[in-house]
Amino acid sequence: MTKARLGFALSFFSLAFLPTLTAQTTARLTVDTATKTADVSPTLYGLMTEEINYSYDGGLYAEMIRNRGFNNGDWQRLAHWSVLTHGNSVAEMTADKDNGPSKALPYSLQVKVSAASDGNEAGVANDGYWGMAVRPSTTYTGSFYAKVNGVGDAHVKLVANDTGMTVAEAKVPVQDGDWKQYTYTMKSTAMAREGSANHFEITFAHPGTVSLQLVSLFPPTYHDRLNGNRPDLMEKLAAMHPSFLRLPGGNYLEGDHINERFNWKETIGPLVDRPMHRSPWGYLSTDGLGLLEFLEWCEDLKIDPVLAVYAGYSLQGEHVVGKELEPFVQDALDEIEYVTGDVNTKWGAVRAKDGHPEPFKLHYIEIGNEDQFDKAKTYDERYTAFEKAIRAKYPQYKLIATTRVSKGSPDAIDDHYYQTPEEFYALVHHYDTMDRNGPKIFVGEWATRTGSPTPDFGAALGDAAWMTSMERNSDLIVMASYAPLFTNVNPGGMQWETDLIGYDAARSYGSPSYWAQVLFAAHLGNEVVKSGAEGVNPRFFWSATVSTDKKILHLKLVNGSDEPQALTLDLNGIKTGSAAMTSLHAASRWATNSIEKPHTIEPIVSRINVSGKEWKHSVGAYTIEVLDVPLQ
Ligand code: AHR
Repeated sequence: MTKARLGFALSFFSLAFLPTLTAQTTARLTVDTATKTADVSPTLYGLMTEEINYSYDGGLYAEMIRNRGFNNGDWQRLAHWSVLTHGNSVAEMTADKDNGPSKALPYSLQVKVSAASDGNEAGVANDGYWGMAVRPSTTYTGSFYAKVNGVGDAHVKLVANDTGMTVAEAKVPVQDGDWKQYTYTMKSTAMAREGSANHFEITFAHPGTVSLQLVSLFPPTYHDRLNGNRPDLMEKLAAMHPSFLRLPGGNYLEGDHINERFNWKETIGPLVDRPMHRSPWGYLSTDGLGLLEFLEWCEDLKIDPVLAVYAGYSLQGEHVVGKELEPFVQDALDEIEYVTGDVNTKWGAVRAKDGHPEPFKLHYIEIGNEDQFDKAKTYDERYTAFEKAIRAKYPQYKLIATTRVSKGSPDAIDDHYYQTPEEFYALVHHYDTMDRNGPKIFVGEWATRTGSPTPDFGAALGDAAWMTSMERNSDLIVMASYAPLFTNVNPGGMQWETDLIGYDAARSYGSPSYWAQVLFAAHLGNEVVKSGAEGVNPRFFWSATVSTDKKILHLKLVNGSDEPQALTLDLNGIKTGSAAMTSLHAASRWATNSIEKPHTIEPIVSRINVSGKEWKHSVGAYTIEVLDVPLQ
């Protein structure tokens, strides 16, 4: 190499690597708290949900009996049920395909008891969604439909699998005759051991036959709702400070085929009138958590629904256009009326009959899901048909298209991101220069996908980096929701890896990404303020927002590097004194939380001194920090 070439190489080397080499000593982060660069969307953080990974059945929806409707797919109607005989009793069970309590449920489980007596009862047992959670001194509420011939009263029990001990029981008087619904409650003993290794039994003490349908059992639910949700999971959602719930999907909205879409009219009213349907994630949805329950879920968390309406396209490519689309458009109009109409409207009256006379709040309606995958390219036509009809009847609502359209005028576009941490790091400036005059952006699904079943700390870092970018651009990004939200962690419970919150029948935990979102949403101002950094490492990200009413700067610092990031912070307008610091840290990218070790990574709150305009602060390796700095 010649001297000149060597000189060029050296100076190229020093120029290219100067920022990295000096990162530990000279990095500087400047925030001008008095200069607003954008408003923060008050609806930025929300939730996205669908029936995937046993999110509702076997998850949020608190039903304990699995396959309560004897329709777990035609080939295994009696899955999770077994014959139970005590002493010398004799019984058999069969799937009865022509005998049920309603048009929607025209089948049942028939139990023939040929020998039984008091103390030697026979019947059937259910093993639940990977067990059944029992807690001591707790009241369980149940019901079943039965058509009874001679078997006598029903004896229902929760029984511990390992000891065979009865932990709760009740006798339910039944009458011979046609289909009738029976209800019961039973209280667990004070000695009942907490855990999920339990099952349910329903037995009879006399020979005869009994047909059963919708055999149901609920623990106490969030806000004590009948047919309600698990409190532990609802509490975790509430802690995320969401402002909306995008419902009901996702692919779950579309179904694999048109007849497997989320057909909302078949998910409302008494459970006995809900036929259930196959979810595209390979299992049957009971639709116990149907449209009204989604809306009540929003009500319980005091958040708005973002209502996704089926738009004539299903995952395996079936699509509807022209005249044939009209009934689907009408279905969407009816659905909006069910959600928002007063009791004098047709569908508002149905909602009132279903138990909720008050209309629900609604601002956003999404038309379809991921319609960029429609190979026939029919979304322009389908979107405009829905837009025209909805705007004509409901001009007050904002409409979301699921991909860019060349016709129509959506208020927002739903962009989805499933990335690695490095990909998200590379994407943080994606929206910085995007046109502010077009539709707004709804990041309706996003997640860093490392870690299984739930994200690891590397994913939390990717998520946090991405959230700094969404906050900075939240004049454009009006809403964002991570997906998927839930997974049942039992073997076979998960269809999609990297899900925010994991659980089994009895326990639940938040992943590191969950905690990152809790932190980001709980410490968000109403204005983005001017900020800039020099000399920071390439995996360092930040967000600066100000709560003007509380006079607080929320400074989020994300260090995705395996080395600490030393900083000189130059924050004008802050008060000298102390600031609250909440910090989420792990020793490695692979560190995570799990059902067995749920608390490995959790936020730690402390206070730090904030002295003068410029102060030194070091952000540890693999650390997400939020500083709440009081303003003058
Ligand atoms: O979140 C999992 C799936 O990812 C959603 O159902 C779908 O919309 C996306 O492809």
